[in-house]
Amino acid sequence: MTLFIVGGAGYIGSHMVKLAHLAGHEVITLDNLSTGHKDAVLYGKFEYCDIQDSNRLSELFKKYQPDAVMHFSAYSLVGESMTDPYKYYQNNTVGTLNLLKAMIDHDCKKFIFSSTAAVFGNPEYTPIDETHPKAPINPYGKSKLMIEQMLEDFDSAYGLKYVVFRYFNAAGEDLDGELTERHDPETHLLPLIMQTVRGEREVISIYGNDYDTKDGTCVRDYIHVKDLSRVHLQGVEYLMQEGSGDSKVYNLGNGEGFSVKEVIEKVREITGVEFNVIEANRRAGDPATLIASSKSAKKELGFAPQINKLEDIIKSLV
Ligand code: UFG
Repeated sequence: MTLFIVGGAGYIGSHMVKLAHLAGHEVITLDNLSTGHKDAVLYGKFEYCDIQDSNRLSELFKKYQPDAVMHFSAYSLVGESMTDPYKYYQNNTVGTLNLLKAMIDHDCKKFIFSSTAAVFGNPEYTPIDETHPKAPINPYGKSKLMIEQMLEDFDSAYGLKYVVFRYFNAAGEDLDGELTERHDPETHLLPLIMQTVRGEREVISIYGNDYDTKDGTCVRDYIHVKDLSRVHLQGVEYLMQEGSGDSKVYNLGNGEGFSVKEVIEKVREITGVEFNVIEANRRAGDPATLIASSKSAKKELGFAPQINKLEDIIKSLV
């Protein structure tokens, strides 16, 4: 297959590029390098492209005629989306609409989309399955939910077939040590804790200790980036099957929730390093608990996470 991996220079995208290449596919990364790194694209071809640029997209679709598009290129910080919603709707929603238009124009009708647990808002029950009500509490989640809704209409009207994956908390690094997580600024819990372990930061802050959870801190379901990449390949293979039929939406996590305090304790235990922790105010836009039910992805796609223990995810960072 010839695959466009949009956002292939980013954290999850670069793992996808590696896995898809090793699986024998022709991989072309499209990225505007706004948050990604060109040197993270270790395999396949790289084409500079901003998804807002229709002419450039058109040129690239003509040149490569991809069989499918995997779309990882999005701003994804909940906190930032609260203070700069324009950035999120403009890039995530409008940019994706533009990409979808280019696909339809060039008769490319297989799409893998990175969505998020943030489409659910504060859960009414956990683990969260695919039919759980969608009530995002931040612009990031709303920007992604709008795309999910657009996709339903693009399927009905233009026959665009898709698999949407809603990630819970993507974490971990490449086990071969070829790829690392490099966000600037870094805002995610695990990489920030690891910076504190290495002495690159003085302290890790716990954002909020008065949530309605086991110890008052937010609970998340961490999933290793390699397991995410693997199931994306299964998703694209499903779409490429002759007469594959329906578009699908899947939640992806390990089905187990860890509080911020538990994550900190686990890192202390594994590294044996004592580091400074302070309790700080809540971060706006954070739901208390997000735990996935991935039963559908397991049953229908054969999703089988291999690095599914928090301990092993942390070890991939050490
Ligand atoms: N946290 C801290 N201290 C920090 C950083 C984070 O206490 O220094 C807390 C957050 O408040 C949150 C938890 O750790 O409760 C996890 O925070 P992350 O920033 O690592 O991840 P998020 O849960 O905010 O977001 C991630 C992705 C989103 C996705 C979301 C879905 O970045 O794209 O998971 O669960 F939408």
